[in-house]
Amino acid sequence: MNAKRIAVLPGDGIGREVIPQALRVMEAAGAPVQFTEFDWGADRYLADGVTVPPDGFAMLDRDFDAIFVGAFGDPRVATNVHAKEILLGMRFKMDLYANVRPVRLLDSSLCPLKGIEPKDIDFVVLRENTEGVYTDAGGVFKQGTEDEIAIQEDINTYKGVARIIRYAFEYAERNPRLDGGPRKSVLLCDKSNAMTHAGGLWQRVFREISSGYPQITPKHMYVDALCMQMVRDPRQFDVIVTNNMFGDIITDLAAGLQGGLGMAASGNIHPGRTSMFEPVHGSAPPIAGKNVANPFGAILTGAMMLRHLSLSAEADRIEAAVLNAVQQKKTTQDLGGALGTREASEWVLARAQRV
Ligand code: NAI
Ligand code: MG
Repeated sequence: MNAKRIAVLPGDGIGREVIPQALRVMEAAGAPVQFTEFDWGADRYLADGVTVPPDGFAMLDRDFDAIFVGAFGDPRVATNVHAKEILLGMRFKMDLYANVRPVRLLDSSLCPLKGIEPKDIDFVVLRENTEGVYTDAGGVFKQGTEDEIAIQEDINTYKGVARIIRYAFEYAERNPRLDGGPRKSVLLCDKSNAMTHAGGLWQRVFREISSGYPQITPKHMYVDALCMQMVRDPRQFDVIVTNNMFGDIITDLAAGLQGGLGMAASGNIHPGRTSMFEPVHGSAPPIAGKNVANPFGAILTGAMMLRHLSLSAEADRIEAAVLNAVQQKKTTQDLGGALGTREASEWVLARAQRV
């Protein structure tokens, strides 16, 4: 098999610690991959003012099978302009409309809730990734005066809403639960009681599309109620579909159920096109460079990317190795272990290795 070509953007902060470890694990697992690293990030921006080189996104799309990203954000770049141009640029300009965020509990000890077992938390959040309030449409007027007006527009298009909802139903059909059972429901999370215009569109399209999948139960929750339910009883969730902002927020809450941000993986996907994979966490400047960042979110993101590239055997081996590390407490401090970033990665690498 030809090696899969992967563009690697470690980015800033802990991205530069966890991404190299995830690359080593993927190679050790025997995945036929060829990595090409790019220096896009705060250092590059501060050195020459470039966030994304000309033709950058077209090059990623043309020359690579997938993109593997760390995180962007650096206290020296107060505007965060590089993060916006690189990360949101990839999502918007490469039209990576489905942000796929699986939520899985590897070990009961990682969940802050009482009496919750790994089998109880196995859902996925599908977040619309190209519209909503994150397009930065809007403006300010009379800034700095008492008459200041700030408008942040919430963009919802029929096409954008329909394709993420359809993706959710397709996902439910194609991705069984970890225990092998089928996914039975897709839940629309919105705030249609207060945000009636956008909510009306989402509700109508959800009804339309769900009728084509009679074997899957359509459900609905307002986002505020969903937050409470996620903490009270996460067992009830299977596939959740929601807009850009609510997806951003509820996946941090969901990450809390699975051991924190250091454990959460994600994909930014447009079926059939070069897609991008990144751990959910940011660049965590206060802990960067100290060998304490949890590498498992990045490593599990690597497994998710390999699975997307039809390298399931390698992905399985990596996921099993991380599970083993968690069960054996061979983890970083955020999960209660005593290992550093490199040492925890090394432990996983040794077990993911193809023998
Ligand atoms: P963050 O995810 O970097 O950190 C939030 C908290 O979680 C911190 O206490 C941090 O120490 C902890 N944490 C995160 N990842 C961890 C890991 N792997 N191991 C152990 N602990 C971990 O989010 P925050 O603090 O809001 O943002 C920091 C910077 O990252 C900002 O510049 C922000 O804009 C950027 N950011 C970038 C993202 C991206 O590139 N996708 C996503 C979120 C934030
Ligand atoms: Mg977020």
